[in-house]
Amino acid sequence: MPGFELIDRKESLAVKKIFDDGGVLFAHGFENLRKNYHVREFENNFKKYINSKYCLAVSSGTAAIKIGLKSLGVKPGDEVITQTFNFIATVEAIVDIGAIPIIVNIDKSLNIDTEDFKKKISKKTKVVIPVHMLGYPCEMKKLKKICKQKKIKILEDNCESLGGMFEKKLLGNCADIGVVSFDFGKTITTGEGGMIITNNKKIYNYCKEHHDHGHKNLKKVSRGKDSFSFPGFNYRMTELQGAIGKSQLNKISTLLKDNKKKYDILKNNLTNFEKRKLIKGGIPNYDTYIFFAKNFAQKKRILNIIKKKQFNTKNLPDAIKWHCASYWTHVLSNKEIKKIKISLKILKKAIALPIFYKKSKNFYKRLANEINEIF
Ligand SMILES: Cc1ncc(COP(=O)(O)O)c(C=O)c1O
Repeated sequence: MPGFELIDRKESLAVKKIFDDGGVLFAHGFENLRKNYHVREFENNFKKYINSKYCLAVSSGTAAIKIGLKSLGVKPGDEVITQTFNFIATVEAIVDIGAIPIIVNIDKSLNIDTEDFKKKISKKTKVVIPVHMLGYPCEMKKLKKICKQKKIKILEDNCESLGGMFEKKLLGNCADIGVVSFDFGKTITTGEGGMIITNNKKIYNYCKEHHDHGHKNLKKVSRGKDSFSFPGFNYRMTELQGAIGKSQLNKISTLLKDNKKKYDILKNNLTNFEKRKLIKGGIPNYDTYIFFAKNFAQKKRILNIIKKKQFNTKNLPDAIKWHCASYWTHVLSNKEIKKIKISLKILKKAIALPIFYKKSKNFYKRLANEINEIF
């Protein structure tokens, strides 16, 4: 599960080093006072990991979505499509730039239903945001085909599934632009933070300028004499986050390997339950195991077992309100919410078990055995 479990002396030494080296906490300038550029190094290391041409570190995943949408030319009144099972941040980013969120149902993969997506495309559709939820990839191949025909851009929200893959590409690097979150519950963490991933220089330059008050960051002039061509905002990452991010990124393969072992224990033991659908060509990051109860009575019994073990579910069902658009009456119209009833029906039967690094394999074995006892 989350990188916070692996925070240790390495992160604290990385932070201490910043202070030992002069204490510059800002990502730009102060050349005479500093020895390193941690945010820049984090971006470079991340770029190598994800295998993209450009990466830009920002203050959060939500900021990354917002800047990303603007870089794709989304204007007030444009429609942006995304999915029901999601986190509210995606819809907030759409609404915050004056665009209109259009919500598409999910299927048993718990990710975007490409058939419903086709139905919801209109003349106003500019961008679709497929969201790789709780470790599992979206059907990127079909989406790309539809989007190419309809001239719709894709922003991949990979805030939750870093390390997962689609057709041999790491998620976040499969479309026009991708975003990752490093908040405290994510695969790797910097406390708060996000990354924008793209292979398009124009998109990268737009995001880079936008997240830094419009600064072009021209190399030959000081920041005070720097140029601008459009108004931006401040969505910068700090050096503290950059240094922690580098350390966390070094631990990702350890984390992913551990995830898979425990995920497989659940998968191989909870065989009486319907499983979440994994799309062809997809590899999860294995940080959550999701299965479906047969009915609500059975679900209640399973949740009791989980509770008795002083364990919890991951969003399904404990935080479903924040992760299903059917509840978001404060940002969506009733008309929009009525169209997505089927997703709620699917999600209400789902149980998501988080994979923790610090929980033993035996714990997951016992958990599966106890859940199986309901039969
Ligand atoms: C799917 C999804 N999108 C966006 C975000 C927002 O990321 P952040 O918390 O870094 O703003 C999250 C975070 O929970 C998320 O799960």
